[in-house]
Amino acid sequence: MAKDEMYVALLGLGTVGTGVYKVMKTQESEMQQKLNTVLRIGKILVRNPKKHEGEVEDPSILTSSFQEILDDPKIRIVIEVMGGIEPANTYISEAIQAGKSVVTANKDLIAEHGGELMALAEENQVELRFEASVAGGIPIISPLKNSLAANEISQVMGIVNGTTNYILSKMTDEGMDYKEALQEATELGYAEADPTADVEGYDAGRKIAIMASIAFHSRVTFHDVYMEGITKITSKDIDYAKALGWVIKLIALARNTRGGIEARVHPMLIPADHPLATVSGSYNAVYVHGDAVEDVMFYGRGAGEMPTASAVMGDVFSVARHTVYDSQGSTRDNVFRKIPIKSMDNIRSSYFLRMEVEDKPGVLATIASIFGNNSVSIKQVIQRDKIGSNAELVIITSEVKERHIRDALLILNSSSVVKRVSNMIRVY
Ligand code: NAP
Ligand code: HSE
Repeated sequence: MAKDEMYVALLGLGTVGTGVYKVMKTQESEMQQKLNTVLRIGKILVRNPKKHEGEVEDPSILTSSFQEILDDPKIRIVIEVMGGIEPANTYISEAIQAGKSVVTANKDLIAEHGGELMALAEENQVELRFEASVAGGIPIISPLKNSLAANEISQVMGIVNGTTNYILSKMTDEGMDYKEALQEATELGYAEADPTADVEGYDAGRKIAIMASIAFHSRVTFHDVYMEGITKITSKDIDYAKALGWVIKLIALARNTRGGIEARVHPMLIPADHPLATVSGSYNAVYVHGDAVEDVMFYGRGAGEMPTASAVMGDVFSVARHTVYDSQGSTRDNVFRKIPIKSMDNIRSSYFLRMEVEDKPGVLATIASIFGNNSVSIKQVIQRDKIGSNAELVIITSEVKERHIRDALLILNSSSVVKRVSNMIRVY
């Protein structure tokens, strides 16, 4: 059934919204062939329409009233690129209940309320798609749901935040200061409205929650994910990592293990020859391990106006095709298991510990006995720099349960020979 035109509404005209607007224009001439219809933007919701008048060909489509969009029967697809939980949650729920399909880039919302929204979409026989919510332009949601559906997926691991990857790359490759690198990432449109979400690991936490739920068929929400950001990483840590043949990356990791689901985001030292080590700037990459496919890696731009618009518009085109051919895709999220979340105490890792200690005989033996008493064995010790009259020690441990390292840290911090433990970073 051919439809001459199909109307969409855009909620938000910021970084991603502007990209979507541009792609709608550049793709206009080919839509008829690709979709058997032409998509038109019926309305654009912004807080302040006046501010955006110079950004669109027809300013009369700008509105600050969501009700106008809800009440317009011509509008079949709502594209939400405003961000945040509210009012996005209310607007998406109301659009779905009004029989409109929704495409969103909003990981905050999907990582917390995705289950309820997908159930609502199914109930109302419309689609809810969110490819752009994870890893910007990289197709990962659809491959996890469709192309890899026949696999038992045991691990999803990757670099899924463009802002922090940009900052760490600039600090590592150019010796750039953290603040300057964050400023650049913000100017390039990679950072969230509040970049705390990026640098503290919350954004990557939301993305790994979304991917884990799909991969393991068991609900993982933002609140289940252990998150540590990059704010404690210093140029010293980066230098030591380089000297040891490693790079520091913010890694998001989800594993389906016998002891439950591990879901965590934290900086990690990875070997310089590991494929994730070469993923730099705003690029992201996601490794997936499935029992049939073995390893697959997805790589591309993880943030920014046009890459994210590419993912949003891919979803919009799918919904448009399904609408034209009356073959609506199922929006079921396919969560049918209840797997417990594994406590961080029980994860296993090797650790990099940088500490300032008294520079006198017997100190190393004291520290070694604290580790030994807590079942932590030491793999490597580096003593390179002096800090005033103290020495800086870097210790790499063997693989150990996290609770043992935490117990050892408590005692180290109260020991008279240890002035401070400056950083603890997990090692791949
Ligand atoms: P942004 O630049 O801050 O733009 C947000 C837009 O939404 C603005 O046009 C703003 O209107 C509008 N808006 C916000 N709250 C509104 C409200 N209550 N009522 C009406 N309009 C409202 O954000 P963005 O970077 O484009 O990100 C949008 C979404 O995409 C977020 O969920 C983000 O996490 C996600 N995302 C972003 C990227 C990226 O690279 N930036 C990548 C993937 C996913 P005004 O202009 O009038 O204030
Ligand atoms: N702020 C996010 C990032 C945008 O830096 O990756 C893409 O989701």
